[in-house]
Amino acid sequence: MRRLKPDRLPRHLAIIMDGNGRWAKQRMLQRIVGHQKGVETVRMIVEECSKVGIAYLTLFAFSSENWLRPKTEVQALMALLKKYIRSEVPRMMQNNVRFAVIGNRHELPQGVNKEIDEAIATTSGNSGMQLTLALSYGSRREILGAVSRIAADATAGKIDPSNLDEKLFAGYLYTDGIPDPDLLIRTSGEMRISNFLLWQLAYTELYFTDVNWPDFDSLQLYKALKDYQDRERRFGLTSEQLRSGK
Ligand code: FPP
Repeated sequence: MRRLKPDRLPRHLAIIMDGNGRWAKQRMLQRIVGHQKGVETVRMIVEECSKVGIAYLTLFAFSSENWLRPKTEVQALMALLKKYIRSEVPRMMQNNVRFAVIGNRHELPQGVNKEIDEAIATTSGNSGMQLTLALSYGSRREILGAVSRIAADATAGKIDPSNLDEKLFAGYLYTDGIPDPDLLIRTSGEMRISNFLLWQLAYTELYFTDVNWPDFDSLQLYKALKDYQDRERRFGLTSEQLRSGK
């Protein structure tokens, strides 16, 4: 296995963890068993990413649309999240990981929010990788929320609308202070963005794999990172411009 180039790693890796349900169905198991197995993958990937030197890892764990799933599945997912956050804090401390959440936290059960607050407070001084869970997250809603607060700040005279630029706008998003993702991985063969980080993914490299999330392992991660390292990111420029630096 060729080694990864440390100077060409994505600074921010975002992942749409998909295929837990199908993984379970293929094995005649209940969907929740797929989610449980998915949590094991989360543990392993968080550890691998922090070891490899990723600075920001953002995982799409629950979308604003996922509330419409059967009540039993939603409850089971919330219980899994709560347990995961509580049980992972010691390991986050060991790995110097800082914990964060993006999304509409008001919609989450109180018990989950309590664990989130504790995990954020306990890990806030860590200087290694930032692990961000997207929970009750929807990108269009995030953008609308930003527009609405910008309008309110403009009406209140706090900002001048004629000064509105990309940097100012991005500061109103949940991801304020987090660089845009360099690489997005989506598992399970679906080739969609599904309302995830629509603004932030403008220049992100996309990587799709057929592997279901419970089967995504360190070799799969390595393959995605290797693929990323072999790409040329042009940000709208030509190859020649990039090489000459002009
Ligand atoms: C997609 O699989 C996955 C989710 C909706 C939730 C992801 C959740 C986990 C990996 C477990 C909990 C997370 C953490 C961070 C502890 P799906 O159910 O949509 O699969 P399908 O498309 O095959 O039905």
